[in-house]
Amino acid sequence: MNNLRKMLLPNRSGSHSLSTAFAARSGSGKTTLLTELVSQARKDEAFKETRFVYVSIKQEHLFGEKVPVVTNVEDLLKKMEKEPIVTFYPLDAGYYEEDIDDVIEAMFSIADDVKGGIVLMIDDANVLKGFDSRGQPSPSVKKLTIAGRSKGIRGVYILHRISNLPRLMNGNISGMILLSISPMDLPYSKKITGIELDDLLPELVDYKWAYVDLIDNTIHRFNPVELKKS
Ligand SMILES: Nc1ncnc2c1ncn2[C@@H]1O[C@H](COP(=O)(O)OP(=O)(O)O)[C@@H](O)[C@H]1O
Ligand SMILES: [Mg+2]
Repeated sequence: MNNLRKMLLPNRSGSHSLSTAFAARSGSGKTTLLTELVSQARKDEAFKETRFVYVSIKQEHLFGEKVPVVTNVEDLLKKMEKEPIVTFYPLDAGYYEEDIDDVIEAMFSIADDVKGGIVLMIDDANVLKGFDSRGQPSPSVKKLTIAGRSKGIRGVYILHRISNLPRLMNGNISGMILLSISPMDLPYSKKITGIELDDLLPELVDYKWAYVDLIDNTIHRFNPVELKKS
């Protein structure tokens, strides 16, 4: 299986189809890289029937004007009938967690009918309650992490720090996509994934990135993606 499929393809029984963690400092190119990976996935036949839902707490997306933006679950479900990629903006800062829980539950409600599976990407998830090494995320986030794969739903958590990953995700993540990360993340990362990232860290500069395969215990290094002219 190619790396892109390992990173993003929902597969109800595949070993590489647990959640993906996408971690790097603010401004290091996460949203840009994620957008490029989704656009590459759209060209890969394996993702032909896959639906992508991009939740942006910052209310920004780089998919271009053709990708619809919705702000409630009803519109999300309606748009997903036709559109391969839909962006969701939670509007009320007082209710981010509830809004995202609603999105997760809605994905579970339709998952059996979405043959190609659903990739549910939550950007800047680190602002949500429970996203730290000692935190408890909501029951819906837990459900996505633990039961998502069997339903063909793949969670992608985009975070500033590896240590934003709640402990319960330990063992429920099949890969990490990393850009520039903080040295402070190394001990926690080693503890939850067993993988030493000390040698990799200095290489992750200038938008260079890596995919850490936690199933095969391998690290794949990549050059920066090229910026699309908009
Ligand atoms: N591969 C790249 N090459 C050049 N500039 C990039 C690249 N990726 C991101 N950038 C620039 O870096 C800035 C931050 O990117 P962004 O994807 O928003 O980061 P993040 O989501 O991690 O905060 C943007 O101005 C973006 O254009
Ligand atoms: Mg971003």
